[in-house]
Amino acid sequence: MSNYSIKNLEEYFQLYRKSVREPENFWEEIAEEHFFWRKRWTNVMQWDFSKPEVKWFEGAKLNITENCLDRHLPARGDKTAIIFEPNDPGEEAQHISYNELHARVCQFANVLKSQGVSKGDRVCIYLPMIPELAIAVLACARIGAIHSVVFAGFSSQALAARINDCDCKLVITADGSFRGAKTLNLKEIVDQGLESCKGVKTVLVVKRTGGEIRMKDGRDQWIEPLLDKASEDCKAEIMDAEDPLFILYTSGSTGKPKGMVHSSAGYMVFTAYTFKNIFRYRENDIYWCTADIGWITGHSYIVYGPLANGATTVIFEGVPTYPDYGRFWEVVAKHKVNQFYTAPTAIRALAKESLDFVDKYDLSSIKVLGTVGEPINEEAWHWYNNNIGKNNSPIVDTWWQTETGGIMISPIPYVTPTIPTYATLPYIGIQPALMDEKGKEIKGNQVEGRLCIKFPWPAMARTIWGDHQRYYDTYFSAFKNMYFTGDGAMRNAVGYYRITGRVDDVIIVSGHNLGTAPIEDAINEHQSVSESAIVGYPHDIKGNALYGFVILKHGGERRDRENLKKEINEQISEHIGPIAKLDKIQFVPGLPKTRSGKIMRRILRKIAAKDTSNLGDISTLLNPEVVEAIIKDAQ
Ligand code: WT7
Repeated sequence: MSNYSIKNLEEYFQLYRKSVREPENFWEEIAEEHFFWRKRWTNVMQWDFSKPEVKWFEGAKLNITENCLDRHLPARGDKTAIIFEPNDPGEEAQHISYNELHARVCQFANVLKSQGVSKGDRVCIYLPMIPELAIAVLACARIGAIHSVVFAGFSSQALAARINDCDCKLVITADGSFRGAKTLNLKEIVDQGLESCKGVKTVLVVKRTGGEIRMKDGRDQWIEPLLDKASEDCKAEIMDAEDPLFILYTSGSTGKPKGMVHSSAGYMVFTAYTFKNIFRYRENDIYWCTADIGWITGHSYIVYGPLANGATTVIFEGVPTYPDYGRFWEVVAKHKVNQFYTAPTAIRALAKESLDFVDKYDLSSIKVLGTVGEPINEEAWHWYNNNIGKNNSPIVDTWWQTETGGIMISPIPYVTPTIPTYATLPYIGIQPALMDEKGKEIKGNQVEGRLCIKFPWPAMARTIWGDHQRYYDTYFSAFKNMYFTGDGAMRNAVGYYRITGRVDDVIIVSGHNLGTAPIEDAINEHQSVSESAIVGYPHDIKGNALYGFVILKHGGERRDRENLKKEINEQISEHIGPIAKLDKIQFVPGLPKTRSGKIMRRILRKIAAKDTSNLGDISTLLNPEVVEAIIKDAQ
């Protein structure tokens, strides 16, 4: 157990240096001592960022579910693996032991097999935050099927695009979902989506809400009776280290979502090792991450990372504001949560409300607080620290991405001194670099640049499903031999990193990564719209909100503006989901463009932020009169 849990700063620096100087030895020791392998690797790593090609633990054979389940059974069979906290606080929480989870995953896996799913097949999972979501994920991994979880807040069209992109033949969904006071009919969304997915032959339906739904003959089946008949034993499919484990879609700067492909061995090793240290997980701790399993945070730090460590992980079905603003803290007190991991946007929303919602509850179980998804502002950091951590639980501000698979830059609690708004130091094995616009690395401290990673790490995505060229273009073409994150960052005097935000066309709204292009595509499909541009502007709770500048077609101008705005937002909801709706829409006569026809978003961002006293360099601006008109009419 030598190097696995990091005890002090000196040890962190020691391990960090080793991970840079002898990465192969370093990772080999971690992999060897803490995981169960069916066959050992022949080669720890191999990489070439110019292709890019990255392989970890090549030649090894394993199944991640044997690491997350089977190997814990002798010592932790009766230990709780999952605590399920339902949306309605009146409904009883469920405690699922490792023994039970193992049995249920095997049954689920056997059902998938009986439906013709085998190794390498893609399975789409579109479920609310109920235990079956984690079970379905693990069941796919058990038989070597590649899961593609789609967040159950995405629209039918977004779901269909994701199903078709990776040719899923089977979809797992539920009749409906409970979200706060709302009940959503998930099955209806799936039915609509599947009208354009000819490849889907089977839909398995979990019963959750008991709502009225339509079952299509020959395609749809309730899963419960199938599970009841299935055996509780299912031999794990033995996978190669580099076999894909899952696909998870993230938005990009063109309309089509990118299916990030993560592989088995490296992902397992890295998520488990980061989980252990960044949350300082100790046996019998109760760990709760409030993210949805539909995002990478849930994959890595609700399911795989915690279970690989034999941890107890909470799955929460509800929302932070239901039945009132105290729900998070009620759940922390109820289950005596030791590690609590959430998004800055949730903290900001709750910080607005009365402290009575916090003070009613005993939060003394908390040892570590975490944040993820976007930069945390200083005010929110202090509120979290003072009122939730009572000034004695370190906050880990964890920076990472869907593409990185696991946490890349973060304090290690009780080890790294924290500073509000700083993600602090790279995790062991991570080699960040700041680059200038000319492609040169900026060395030294107190500098700012584009954040790149110059050496591979085990959990990095290996490709974009079906489009390796796009993987190269998006991440490896901007800076030679570097992975480009799309973020800007600064490094302070002691070498701490502070993430300043996206430097590309991705906007983080309430912690959700939204590409401007897909939203613009959705708007432009409206019959009255000829062109549009979306930018983000600062928002108290969401971090960023969306401002749309829309040019109407001839004729469109005669229509009622308020109705048009509603229709545009409905259109976005249908194409992407309600999370991408615009906060402000301004109809404009034109968009600021360069002589080469590129939209000057920089100017639009200033207008949206009401900061137009100095527009910066406008020498390439083709149409200053349009800018004047937009400013005059801005909201
Ligand atoms: C983008 C990735 C990885 C989990 C959730 C988001 C932003 C993430 C932080 C942080 C500042 C952050 C970055 C990044 N981001 N964590 N601690 N501080 N910014 O995953 O949807 O792939 O988004 O989220 O801009 O590139 P994602």
